[in-house]
Amino acid sequence: MNATPKALDAEYAELAIQTQQETQALATETTLLNPRFYTTDFDEMDRIDVTPVRAEWDKLLDQMRSDPNKAHFKKNAEWDADWDGMEPKLKREFIDFLVSSCTAEFSGCVLYKEMKRRGNNPDICELFNFMARDEARHAGFINDALREAGVAVNLGFLTKAKKYTYFRPKFIYYATYLSEKIGYARYITIFRHLEANPDQRFHPIFKWFREWCNDEFSHGEAFALLMRTDPKLTQSFANKLWIRFFLTAVYSTMYVRDHARPEFHKALGVDIEWYDQEVFRKTSTIARQVFPVELDIDHKRWMPNLRRMRDAFGVMDAGKKQGGLAGWIKSKRGAVSAALAFVSLYTIPVIRSEPPKNVRLEPVY
Ligand SMILES: [Fe+2]
Ligand SMILES: [Fe+2]
Repeated sequence: MNATPKALDAEYAELAIQTQQETQALATETTLLNPRFYTTDFDEMDRIDVTPVRAEWDKLLDQMRSDPNKAHFKKNAEWDADWDGMEPKLKREFIDFLVSSCTAEFSGCVLYKEMKRRGNNPDICELFNFMARDEARHAGFINDALREAGVAVNLGFLTKAKKYTYFRPKFIYYATYLSEKIGYARYITIFRHLEANPDQRFHPIFKWFREWCNDEFSHGEAFALLMRTDPKLTQSFANKLWIRFFLTAVYSTMYVRDHARPEFHKALGVDIEWYDQEVFRKTSTIARQVFPVELDIDHKRWMPNLRRMRDAFGVMDAGKKQGGLAGWIKSKRGAVSAALAFVSLYTIPVIRSEPPKNVRLEPVY
């Protein structure tokens, strides 16, 4: 059936409705795919002794103390946002992307600030203070961009309304290390792509990504050093299985989440599978600094099961929307299929390596 231009307009107008309320709900909601807020055993983290990595630690902290991005997160003449000229479907997905990024940045801020507040260990407190400072800037900058579209997230409200997930400190290290390094890889991959294709830069925020991702890179470095203070964290048999688990969960979640934004990636001129593989490859290469296992993303089971996972999430969503018994059955069928895809990804033989003696890396992409 052909839709008349008028009908299409109405459909797009519907899609474009993004109220303050919707945005807040989007940020507050806790689902498998949304960025979460975390809490942990802060006392245990406070007891970390960085002596084994002191030389590298001091160098990293000196760099953070010098605050290279102090003046970076300010709009200037380069900021040429045009929300009104944006195609409504794209606008909707882009807002979704910004809300999700803002929530993720702010989630880091809340966790790091809390560690700083509860801790007594001067090394740990100083580090977490710097990282909270950076994440507050990142979240604030994204929120400024959202405000221009009339849909800023109420961050103060979020700290109270959002559910917190408890993770033991070691899980915080694995998850946060990965999300910082993935954050770096995501931002730099988009930045480099748009550097080569400036006509596809549909919003100015991408121009800020290079310096921005260097902050994320440093945060990841800090977690790499923290993990190095206790060899068991990355070397014991059980922990290697956990690292594998986190790699699989974080990578597959990213794949499913990115595929929910086809218009956004189309506007950037980015093929989602290419982009995700590129980000996984960069992240995996960087993570050799501390993880002794790496996922084989070229394995023949990798891509088919990521796709299967994405489809399964689609079925789950459709079931939930449908409601009733039939919807419930559909959603459970999706959940089983997602679980099977996860098991298949998790059991792909890993690539093993010996992490180097010196942990520290520089951002080179
Ligand atoms: Fe950040
Ligand atoms: Fe970060």
